Amino acid sequence: MKRPVEQLGSLVYFAGEKEDAPFREGSAILPPAKFPIVRRLRHLRTFLRHLWRAQTWYNIHSPFVFDFASQVLEDDRWFYAFDEVEHWRRQLLRDRTLLTIDDHGAGSQLRASRERSIASLARHSACQPFQGRWLFRIVNRYKPSTMLELGTSLGISTAYQALAAPRARFLTVEGCGASAQVARNTLRHFSLKNVELVEGRFEERLPVVLADLGKLDYLYVDGNHRYEPTVSYFEQCLQAAHDDSVFIFDDIHWSEEMEQAWEHIRRHPAVRLSIDLYFIGLVFFKDEFPVKQDFTLIPWRWKPWAVGWW
Ligand SMILES: C[S@@+](CC[C@H](N)C(=O)[O-])C[C@H]1O[C@@H](n2cnc3c(N)ncnc32)[C@H](O)[C@@H]1O
Repeated sequence: MKRPVEQLGSLVYFAGEKEDAPFREGSAILPPAKFPIVRRLRHLRTFLRHLWRAQTWYNIHSPFVFDFASQVLEDDRWFYAFDEVEHWRRQLLRDRTLLTIDDHGAGSQLRASRERSIASLARHSACQPFQGRWLFRIVNRYKPSTMLELGTSLGISTAYQALAAPRARFLTVEGCGASAQVARNTLRHFSLKNVELVEGRFEERLPVVLADLGKLDYLYVDGNHRYEPTVSYFEQCLQAAHDDSVFIFDDIHWSEEMEQAWEHIRRHPAVRLSIDLYFIGLVFFKDEFPVKQDFTLIPWRWKPWAVGWW
């Protein structure tokens, strides 16, 4: 099958902005609903800054990061799972069923509950296809045996990650009961028996799931995009991290608060290496990296003039 043009991913992102719905907090600096144009311009500015700074695999000298770039960003293999998840996403995009959304985030002071269609959640809350493929390839490359996701929503990112690791123990936490119900259908649709969906607020569930998992090989945080909660989830999960763990944070440039949270995380003394892919950020804890290193990467197709000839 022909591979879709990956660079369109970023354009799709700016055209149909992803949100942290239904726990849509937004940053204290830019209220979420009021100034969508200002927010999009801010995203465009931060993306252009990323584009300017980012290295492609042609400029990387670290063997570990080069391996990451070749296996995750530049891997051309097309897995069946990609089509299957996108087929399921299309079904959800056609589903006009209204869900009553529980809102536990900062937005709850304004709206205690609200109605959203499954189609709207599939359009605005789920990861973009290219991000799903990155997650799949990360899991496929590092082969974690214990995995945790914070923010299941309808289960699209869950499916991408779980299909790459059918034998891993995978816990995913979602606070909105109605979304969790749809996510259960997603798990059933893909016969994902190794995934346990834990319903409840991260704040309450995280200590319990961490105690249950014991060690954490893989973490993906995609919910409650604010500074303090994100840093708190990171610090709690750190207790279960080890030399080979990989932690991923979504939407690290979504707001100024998230940029501050990402700064805090990547500067943490336990983090030995960080990779900023703009849409997600990854941190590694390997002792074999004697000097702390931070990388800003981009697929070369998004920056075709940076092919390392000069
Ligand atoms: C952006 S969506 C997740 C999208 C999903 N990872 C995907 O790509 O398909 C964020 C989810 O996190 C959940 N969430 C946000 N804050 C939460 C909290 N404090 N406790 C539990 N769930 C929360 C929301 O209900 C929402 O469904």
